[in-house]
Amino acid sequence: MSAIWVISDSKEVEVIFQSSGIPFSLYGPKDLAMLSGVRFPIDSFPLAFLDMAIEGWREWMRGMRHRVPVICFAPPDLGTAVEAMRLGAADVVDKGLTTERLRADVERHESRAKEREGAFDDIVGRSSVMKDVFSLIKRAAASESNVLITGESGTGKEPTARAIHRWSPRKDNSFMTLNCSAIPDTLLESELFGFEKGAFTGANYTKKGILEMAGGGTVFLDEIGDVSTLFQTKVLRVIQEGEIMRIGGARHTKVDVRIIAATNKDLKLACKRGAFREDLFYRLNVINIHLPALRRRMEDIPILTAHFIKKYAPKRKDIVISDITDEAMHILLNYNFPGNVRELENIIEHSISFAGYPEILPSDLPHALIQSGLKRRIATPKMKDAVASFEKELIWSALQEARGNISRAAATLGIYRQQLQRKIKQLKIAT
Ligand SMILES: Nc1ncnc2c1ncn2[C@@H]1O[C@H](COP(=O)(O)OP(=O)(O)OP(=O)(O)O)[C@@H](O)[C@H]1O
Ligand SMILES: [Mg+2]
Repeated sequence: MSAIWVISDSKEVEVIFQSSGIPFSLYGPKDLAMLSGVRFPIDSFPLAFLDMAIEGWREWMRGMRHRVPVICFAPPDLGTAVEAMRLGAADVVDKGLTTERLRADVERHESRAKEREGAFDDIVGRSSVMKDVFSLIKRAAASESNVLITGESGTGKEPTARAIHRWSPRKDNSFMTLNCSAIPDTLLESELFGFEKGAFTGANYTKKGILEMAGGGTVFLDEIGDVSTLFQTKVLRVIQEGEIMRIGGARHTKVDVRIIAATNKDLKLACKRGAFREDLFYRLNVINIHLPALRRRMEDIPILTAHFIKKYAPKRKDIVISDITDEAMHILLNYNFPGNVRELENIIEHSISFAGYPEILPSDLPHALIQSGLKRRIATPKMKDAVASFEKELIWSALQEARGNISRAAATLGIYRQQLQRKIKQLKIAT
């Protein structure tokens, strides 16, 4: 997170911010002139805290309110608090400023900002189906019921489970994951329930299982569709009785956990076939969150792509990759993503490692994808886009070779300087 702004001249306030661990930049009355200056760093801070005891707080408010959410604190009286709201404060904190209060406020505003730009927690999406998922996550978080998250592989079941936990009253306790796929029953049991010393050969110590360790928190049973019916019976027991017994143990222990399970299998069908216990299915599926396949929400692709570019761009130390060309986006938008978001993430990571230009070009995409894109392009040729993309690449490398010298780059390309300048503007090439 980039630093939040704090406008105050009180030492006490500075100390509170320091002890909160939140990165911040402190400004005082003498910095007010900067607000109208050209050097004002718009967008470089996500949130501002304005001390209403400071002289000129109204001017600060007017200067910042359209650019960033402003939280006003320490109003001298109710009238001034109301005035701050009228002036556009996102919030007025009238009680004392404490580090806890501060952290909670910053967290709340961060997640609100994310929601505005098309994300919930770590989950990015702005399609209406994903908005429905976000509101389901919030409702699931507020309840104590078990949740079953379903969806094809790579649709984001794990971040969904984490978001439910983080938004639930259990958020300050552990979130523990048990990946049930490809693990033999005996190991699953010892992971989940723990064991007593001497329970079996090699049990040289007593170990708590994750159901005990997650006390007061959430246990995420990933790939629950892969477990044996015997193990299902044991999970059902935990849910029904709310207690466990360590392997080799002699007594039951009460556990307080909330279960979130996930699967990419059709559990109803598995129930019909007798491969999954119906009673367990209903116990887990109290709330169902189904994550739609990416091909059913193609409008999320641009925002997801931007998210992954931001995530992987720092891996390149030699070049700053900040965008994707329309041409390359066109190819993504015509692909059907059998591997869903995970596949898109891999594609972007791959492209970033191959890119030689600040924007991802079609030629940076994995080969198979370009092929599928080409086939489609023959059917609907977009000559203009293709030419523009080619020109961009050409001009970019000429500029790089000429170290940004436009006259020299123009000479290499065999065109006039003015012509090149026009192209640079037209194609929005960063120089
Ligand atoms: N909406 C999203 N926004 C951001 N990242 C996402 C989103 N959906 C998925 N991802 C990312 O894609 C990757 C795959 O997601 P995840 O591991 O949750 O898949 P899954 O649904 O559990 O699939 P599987 O059934 O194969 O385990 C992860 O890195 C995850 O963070
Ligand atoms: Mg998974």
